[in-house]
Amino acid sequence: MKRVKYLSKLKSKDIAGKTFFVRIDLNVDAASPADMFRLDAIIPTFKLLLRSGARIVTASHRGRPETYSTAESLAVFAPLISKRVGADVDFISAYRIGAAVKAIRASDASIILMENMRFFRGETENDPSFARALASCADMYVNDAFPVSHRKAASVSAITKFLPSYAGLRVESELCHLDAAMKRVKHPFTLVIGGAKTSDKIGVIDYFKNKADAILLGGGPANTFFAAKGVSVGSSLYDEGAVKIAKKNLLLGSLYLPSDTITSSGKILDVGLKTSNEYRKIILASNSVVWNGPLGLFQKERFARGTLAMWRAVMELAKRKPDALIVIGGGETVASMALLKTRRKLPENIFISTGGGAMLEYLSGKKLPGISALQNAK
Ligand code: 3PG
Repeated sequence: MKRVKYLSKLKSKDIAGKTFFVRIDLNVDAASPADMFRLDAIIPTFKLLLRSGARIVTASHRGRPETYSTAESLAVFAPLISKRVGADVDFISAYRIGAAVKAIRASDASIILMENMRFFRGETENDPSFARALASCADMYVNDAFPVSHRKAASVSAITKFLPSYAGLRVESELCHLDAAMKRVKHPFTLVIGGAKTSDKIGVIDYFKNKADAILLGGGPANTFFAAKGVSVGSSLYDEGAVKIAKKNLLLGSLYLPSDTITSSGKILDVGLKTSNEYRKIILASNSVVWNGPLGLFQKERFARGTLAMWRAVMELAKRKPDALIVIGGGETVASMALLKTRRKLPENIFISTGGGAMLEYLSGKKLPGISALQNAK
């Protein structure tokens, strides 16, 4: 297996005058300042390229649309990127590849932002002809989209067959921190899993079941385990398809389900106070914590208590035990950090990953298609 090539190792003279296709991850709520972590995380890559005299064609997915939808357009991000890098961003609204390539070629902007990759036919199928057309707009490829690197998509994977390909500064930092974390895990090791996308997380729970000393559940994964136990979850978020695996793990000694919950209109929307206290104690007794997924619908204040309790617990752990290893990731989890209402820098022993499912899969030792594609690139 070849090694990933890093953009940081390229010399300015090899960057100058070239066009880079930079895959980023803007799968966030553009209206929420708390959600800008993923955007801010890739700005150093943009700045490095511009400083070295490159042009950038950049692209992301957003949501899981089957066709065009205004709500999932990337247009809103053009001014946000422009403000951060201090350069004009030309937004290309076409979402048919032929028209998009034509518009990109006609533009002389130093940054071109394409429309949501998932509006295009071929992206999610990892279609080589779509990837080739994307590649035709650039000289080099950079993956700076760690959060989507567990998906085999054309702009993440197939495109690396057509262009010299590099990991961006953010992906490099993610790999470096997560590799170090995997080597340093100390027991007691606690895994906290909440949020949505249960199907992505259930396999991870299966993987960690003999490795973690405690697996604390909230959100969709907890509801799925409740359903597996035969407890009625009403219209709560849960994953029918994941119930079978959940059933297999029900008797696991390390698994913690909420002992009380907050419900509204037949939906479980947060963990209760008793659960928050139990989970807090377990976290404080840990030497390593990996957390992905809020414990409740934190966007609404009355359902944010469980998630806030987790943030307070990890902050307290970080302070009490400077050697503790704390890795937190996922779009929503990172956005929920705003509940802490602090502008202070996070303690050094907390690493915030831009990835959610990708982070969990990487920590589970799985090969991420986007990273393997960089290793096997042209
Ligand atoms: C994420 O937010 O986890 C990534 O952007 C991947 O999104 P997806 O689960 O819709 O592929």
